[in-house]
Amino acid sequence: MKILFIGDVVGSPGRKMINEYLPRLKKKYRPTVTIVNGENAAGGKGITQKIYKSFLDAGAQAVTLGNHAWDNREIFDFIDDAQAMIRPANFPEKTPGNGSMIVKVNDLEVGIINLQGRTFLPPIDCPFKKADELISQLKKRTPFIFVDFHAEATSEKQAMGWYLDGKVSAVVGTHTHTQTADERILPSGTAYITDVGMTGPYDGILGVEREAVLYKFLTSLPVRFEVTKGREQLNGVLVDVDAKTGQAKSIKRILINEDHPYTED
Ligand SMILES: [Fe+2]
Ligand SMILES: [Fe+2]
Repeated sequence: MKILFIGDVVGSPGRKMINEYLPRLKKKYRPTVTIVNGENAAGGKGITQKIYKSFLDAGAQAVTLGNHAWDNREIFDFIDDAQAMIRPANFPEKTPGNGSMIVKVNDLEVGIINLQGRTFLPPIDCPFKKADELISQLKKRTPFIFVDFHAEATSEKQAMGWYLDGKVSAVVGTHTHTQTADERILPSGTAYITDVGMTGPYDGILGVEREAVLYKFLTSLPVRFEVTKGREQLNGVLVDVDAKTGQAKSIKRILINEDHPYTED
């Protein structure tokens, strides 16, 4: 049982990479479930209904979000109908949308949980407690649970990986937009990576125009961030899960850019 996860899609360059490579990756790896993080999909800020649907058309069965979920106000018009989209589960109770979902593939069910960290991010409810709560609900239905932990601090992401080791099939980090090379299977069978990386511009700073980011660092003045143009990249992971136990067997990083070109083998 394989799960393909694509890291933070940033703006039109990210959507272009999804349209170009997601069908090819699906053909190559034949994942049971495909998940895309879309928190930056609309011009770097949030997601629209049209983009959400385009991800499903490209082959995703689930879309996860993060701290930028609310940046495009259109989300409030369609979040209640978007059954295949989840936002971090540990937002306060009155926040619209759901934080977990189940993807059904034939007679198989895969639980997906989106959580957000609290270190260097606005304060929300405890992601660890929320994870416990959702896992105990999902476990009644399926041994396959995939967690997208959207967080800034490596320590908080590692802590979540170890905390959930043996309780879920995978904990993958998103949000920091740079793929880390620490993918591993933890001792009790949970696949882990600190950050999957992003899908979008290759030559910006985390997807944003370099000049604007540099101006901010050099002056400390507020600036408007735009998605940069030019060369693109796609970052993802493929997790292979034991079809009986729900324990991960392997986790493989996927990185496509001009320095790491896509190959069919
Ligand atoms: Fe992001
Ligand atoms: Fe984020």
